[in-house]
Amino acid sequence: METMANNVAIEKSKTSKIQDVDFDNLSFGSVYSDHMLVCDYKNGEWSAPKVVPYQPITLDPSAKIFHYGQSIFEGMKAYKDEAGKIWLFRPLENWKRLNKSAKRLAIPELPEAYFMDGLNALLQVESDWVPQNPGSSLYIRPFIFASGNGFHASPADEYKFIIACAPSGSYFSGKVKVLIEETYSRAANGGVGYAKAGGNYAGQFYPTQLAAEKGYQQVIWTDDNTHEFIEEAGAMNVFVRIGDTLLTAPTNDRILDGITRKSILDIANDEGIKTEVRKVSVHELVEAAKNGTLKEMFGAGTAAVISPIAGFGYHGEDYDLPELENSYASLLKKRITDIQYNRAEDKFGWRY
Ligand code: COI
Repeated sequence: METMANNVAIEKSKTSKIQDVDFDNLSFGSVYSDHMLVCDYKNGEWSAPKVVPYQPITLDPSAKIFHYGQSIFEGMKAYKDEAGKIWLFRPLENWKRLNKSAKRLAIPELPEAYFMDGLNALLQVESDWVPQNPGSSLYIRPFIFASGNGFHASPADEYKFIIACAPSGSYFSGKVKVLIEETYSRAANGGVGYAKAGGNYAGQFYPTQLAAEKGYQQVIWTDDNTHEFIEEAGAMNVFVRIGDTLLTAPTNDRILDGITRKSILDIANDEGIKTEVRKVSVHELVEAAKNGTLKEMFGAGTAAVISPIAGFGYHGEDYDLPELENSYASLLKKRITDIQYNRAEDKFGWRY
């Protein structure tokens, strides 16, 4: 039966999978909720979004997504507070970045109302799927891909915007050991590094596999030109604490404008932590590790929130980071998650 929420048509699933889900032992992004949002782009316009039962998609083998990788995505989370109320964190930032990515990949931009009304309608239907267990949330994956056909290497004439949801626990279990990348690059000047393009992630898998063979869980990406400056940590932005200063690379063509990254910077400034947004060289990092001023490194992103780094490898040497009692990582993680889960005042107005 079709109902409506926020002008979004809803076709309810006849059955639910929710009773099969072990909410006490959620991994990340591997079980999916009962419904998804779908919105098609055809004949030069986006159709109104619809909530439909979660289901496979049928595509022609010539669909351009398969050949030219015209695909972008976002990562968001819905949080349930103690009273059972559901919150999002800065969702308009995700919509804006989706359209920034869309523009770079020659994908038609999506109207704000389709994104926000669609998301609201989907979450109203899926409210039982938002976990309440500590550290868990409903991971939300909005994505757009080229569903139009043709081997011609040019933008597709049809696209699909979908939002799928996965009740999820933490992304990493514990601290990670990282390898500073000296051969491969994640992104180049003038490229698509700042966009959340699927191919940016596919390109990371092989160098990350090589790092894993050497015992490192993630790669620290360096600039493509000189490999002298650190840029990102795996699929996340990277932060470094030298002495009492928190440092992160400035965003540019190659670096994702992370929503967690910019929120962390605002919270750190609010805490009175000295922050510097500037290039950080591998040389500076190695010297700081050697003289004991390198206190912390962590990745920051929606999925993992803040992912502390245990140590890094570079030029065949391993550098371990100290175990700190009062780390910036734990302080900042507590502050951001307290806002996200409605456990603290939201002085920035980020909760939705
Ligand atoms: C996120 O942090 O949500 C991301 O988009 C990274 C993803 C590859 C899990």
